[in-house]
Amino acid sequence: MRILFTTTAMALMLAACGGSEEPATSASTPSAEVVTPTPLPEPGTPPAVEETPVVEEAAAEVDDTAELIAALPAPYNEADYKSGERVWKQCATCHRLDPADGHRTGPNLHGIFDRHSGAAEEFRYSKVLEEADFQWTPEEIDKWLASPKEYLEGNRMSFAGVRRPNDRRDVIAYMLIESNR
Ligand code: HEC
Repeated sequence: MRILFTTTAMALMLAACGGSEEPATSASTPSAEVVTPTPLPEPGTPPAVEETPVVEEAAAEVDDTAELIAALPAPYNEADYKSGERVWKQCATCHRLDPADGHRTGPNLHGIFDRHSGAAEEFRYSKVLEEADFQWTPEEIDKWLASPKEYLEGNRMSFAGVRRPNDRRDVIAYMLIESNR
């Protein structure tokens, strides 16, 4: 009786220690029983392998935007793309950047930075913008957006403007990237 009890107790202790196969004990049979139900540490592996490429793709998109911003001339290389995208939503009421989307209330702004003022084909500009003679640059657009009304008196862009300089910087950076895609 005593010997049996001790053997069981030792088996339990072995199990508690992690059930490693100590060669010293003669009670190998009961301890093996206790150890058996612990052999499945790797079922999480296959799904992890499947997910990896998806995560990498998403990261690549974010990096792409960061690189494009960094490649812009100052101060646009310090712009916040996401913020620019948000500010652009106001412009998107009247403007599109994809040439396939045509004009809305305002002219399509694809390639605006290489463009002469008032030069979008088949858009009916106000007289002042049609007769104005300059090239759109980030600096000109910054002034235009600060106060469209004062920038060119008599123009027809009925938009209050973008008051905060950082918002103008961000939306211009966004346009520099998206108007030439
Ligand atoms: C309510 C409509 C409306 C909104 C909002 C608006 N615009 Fe315009 N935009 C116009 C119209 C209309 C014109 C043409 C004005 C004219 O002919 O005098 C124009 C002209 C322009 C031009 C000159 C285009 C050219 O071919 O010379 C630029 C640049 C421009 N908008 C940028 C913006 C940006 C950037 C925003 C957002 C921050 C914006 N606009 C918001 C209606 C809008």
